[in-house]
Amino acid sequence: MSRATVPSPDEPAILVDSVSKRFGRTLALDGVSFEVPHGQLFALLGPNGAGKTTLMHILCTILGPDSGTAQIAGFDVVRQPLAARSRLGIVFQEPSLDDRLTVSENLNLHGLVFGVPRALRRRRIAEMLDLVELADWASTPVRSLSSGMKRRLEIARALIHDSRIMLLDEPTVGLDAQTRERIWTYVRRLQAERQLTVLVTTHYIEEVETCDRVCIIDHGRVLAIDGPDALRRAHGQQMLRVTPTTPEIRDEILNSFPDRVTQHSDAHILLSADDAFVERFLSQYGTRIRALTNEVPSLETAFLSLTGRDLRDRGASARERTLAFGNRGGEHTR
Ligand SMILES: Nc1ncnc2c1ncn2[C@@H]1O[C@H](COP(=O)(O)OP(=O)(O)O)[C@@H](O)[C@H]1O
Ligand SMILES: [Mg+2]
Repeated sequence: MSRATVPSPDEPAILVDSVSKRFGRTLALDGVSFEVPHGQLFALLGPNGAGKTTLMHILCTILGPDSGTAQIAGFDVVRQPLAARSRLGIVFQEPSLDDRLTVSENLNLHGLVFGVPRALRRRRIAEMLDLVELADWASTPVRSLSSGMKRRLEIARALIHDSRIMLLDEPTVGLDAQTRERIWTYVRRLQAERQLTVLVTTHYIEEVETCDRVCIIDHGRVLAIDGPDALRRAHGQQMLRVTPTTPEIRDEILNSFPDRVTQHSDAHILLSADDAFVERFLSQYGTRIRALTNEVPSLETAFLSLTGRDLRDRGASARERTLAFGNRGGEHTR
């Protein structure tokens, strides 16, 4: 048989090659290419409107690309959609559970649709409910679950059939910090214990810190793909956090380095810096500041320098800025 029908085991788990997709005047994807090897936890990081969901829909065969190709475990998503789909466990951005059914009925239905034999289905349902800590809720109608529990149930459901590749589209969006952390704990545990390949999208920068590789995407284009540390090193910016002694000195610093100020409040000023600048700053203001910390390049500054986006929400903490950024809707401020 030809290679197109039976993929070799050496194929990457996910292959995306020059994929473009247009909706009217919006070019949602503009020549996106990347590969995810088997067993990797791969994050697609980008703001709202970047094209993440469009790409997920193409990978799970709901949507066809205008040009380019994509493969799941070597199966072409356009020419072999059923084979590709059967390898995938999917958690969509929009909730997709049946609210009227119970927790275990939802899982059972999914197993039936994917042709999982009865005995295996029962075993997998019990196993997955244990894993996402919903075993006590098996007979509860889904409509009475919290949004965090529903998310956990969707993760469980994605793995009822024989899926070794998992797509999760913004699995933590809209959840509180504690629930988000818990979802990530399950995802990492699953990935490690079952050698799953996981492709997860997010617009929360701090969530990709522990992923194997991160693909930064904006306006439908890939801007960088690398490990979090390598991205920090290559694109991150060293920052100087300064606490001036008086409001007058604060204003003087703000006026002296307008191009370097990335953030400021009454108490602090954050300046982009390099070693030469730190030296110059100290000789000029060393005696007129209360405190100074040198901050190593972060993923956030790497993202800033790559996307050119202005995240100057003055006075906000890094976390608040990330959240505010996430809530910006489809706004593009390039
Ligand atoms: N069905 C659609 N019709 C028209 N425009 C769409 C459609 N789906 C997505 N878009 C547009 O394509 C762009 C990318 O959207 P999307 O893939 O949902 O981004 P993300 O998931 O990264 O937020 C956005 O500008 C969005 O408005
Ligand atoms: Mg989306």
